[in-house]
Amino acid sequence: MLAAGSAVSLPTNAFGLNRRLKVVLVGTGVRGISFWGRRLVEQYPDQLEFVGLSDINPGRLDYAKAYMKVDCPVFVDFDAMIEQTKPDLVIVCTKDSTHHEYIIRGLSAGCDVLTEKPLTTDETKAQSILDAERKSGKNLIVGFNYRWSPYMTKVKELLQNNEIGEITSVDFNWYLNIHHGASYFRRWHGLMDGGGSLWVHKATHHFDLLNWWLDSEPEEVFAYGALEHYGSNGPFRAKSCRSCDRKDDCNYYWDITESDHLMKLYVANEQHDGYIRDGCVYRHEIDIYDKMSAQIRYANNAVVNYSLTTYSPFEGWRIAFNGQKGRIEAWLDIPWMKNDHLDQASLHAAEMSQAADQDVIQEPLVLYKNWTDYRVIQVAGERGGHGGGDRRLHDKLFKNQDAPDPYGHSAGVRDGVMSVLIGIAARKSIETNKPIRIADLTDLKPRAKRQS
Ligand SMILES: NC(=O)c1ccc[n+]([C@@H]2O[C@H](COP(=O)([O-])OP(=O)(O)OC[C@H]3O[C@@H](n4cnc5c(N)ncnc54)[C@H](O)[C@@H]3O)[C@@H](O)[C@H]2O)c1
Repeated sequence: MLAAGSAVSLPTNAFGLNRRLKVVLVGTGVRGISFWGRRLVEQYPDQLEFVGLSDINPGRLDYAKAYMKVDCPVFVDFDAMIEQTKPDLVIVCTKDSTHHEYIIRGLSAGCDVLTEKPLTTDETKAQSILDAERKSGKNLIVGFNYRWSPYMTKVKELLQNNEIGEITSVDFNWYLNIHHGASYFRRWHGLMDGGGSLWVHKATHHFDLLNWWLDSEPEEVFAYGALEHYGSNGPFRAKSCRSCDRKDDCNYYWDITESDHLMKLYVANEQHDGYIRDGCVYRHEIDIYDKMSAQIRYANNAVVNYSLTTYSPFEGWRIAFNGQKGRIEAWLDIPWMKNDHLDQASLHAAEMSQAADQDVIQEPLVLYKNWTDYRVIQVAGERGGHGGGDRRLHDKLFKNQDAPDPYGHSAGVRDGVMSVLIGIAARKSIETNKPIRIADLTDLKPRAKRQS
């Protein structure tokens, strides 16, 4: 108990500081300026302040500043920003293949760093990040928002409580619909060089969930993949939807001019860097896979069957865990299971608006116990913001840092590396037609019991 009148200075704010956290953002695209920008400005005014914004595109930077309603300086030169603003935290939201540059430069300058997923896109960059993090003594946080939703957490709770005994195998299928799936083929995500393929850019979420749920680390990966729908498979092509003369007979025609926000953020700034946001999904340059399937063996002997589809009529996923004592089946958004005729285009638009719709919804999962019965468990979650995961991740980072973390939601560098290594190994397996050992990719050796 403190005596009345004691003069103590307690760390009350984000990152244990007794003042507001000084934050800079690099990468002022849609994700940066909304989820890691305007939302933080609006929700955590007492905890943090933006002291700088950086991007290679000066026009986008000006729009970002206005959109986020901040009056900090903007910089095309990242190092000048760090030098002048001396931030506590660097938030990295650039194109995936460039994350490592800013993570390493931020850590080396003595800042904590928070990066969007994926941590990085190949094993050499992953090793450089590991080396820089060890040398810096600073924190590197990976923004794995999916873990934080109540639905994902319920699965974790059941597994952690050993409800179905030792997990021996898992079936995991993820379906991106013709709107969301196609969106990756319109821009840099469609190039290996940009996002390391959807094995890394997208599946890093799924592999992180698997690692976290199984509480183990991946040991070996074998994969197949092909590009059979988008890219050169298309019947015709143009540079962008805007410039296309087949607008009327292309199912994938997408009219970016309908969004004032996207016009101001991207189209108005094409002149600076040539970034086309509504690129044709049939461009010849597309070189990633649109069909992906992998087998993953974990260090605790669990084996996983995983697949990712990018042109499904509906958006959703399902997973089944087979244990020595039972089985858990979980899924989200499968329309016929919900007896629901969801409008897939509106669903995708809502997700992309980065809005946080906090309508509470109930989602079922099934817990089967061998030799007895099964139980349907209803989990309360939120419709938007990745099932409520986005909001919870922010609160933990900026408001409730000292709150207990019984399910180990917080993700660090090892989690970030382990999740991308599965995708990188899958890519290599397709190229070589051989199984790839995770231990051969960086100096991290997989452990039967996961470590953060
Ligand atoms: N966790 C999630 O659910 C989620 C959702 C969306 C996006 N993301 C991640 O957020 C990041 C940004 O995605 P986005 O949709 O905003 O992409 P975007 O292309 O709209 O924005 C990326 C920004 O980075 C800038 N940039 C590109 N190369 C750069 C470089 N070398 N140096 C500095 N800036 C550079 C671009 O000019 C652009 O403004 C990606 O890493 C993506 O994977 C995560």
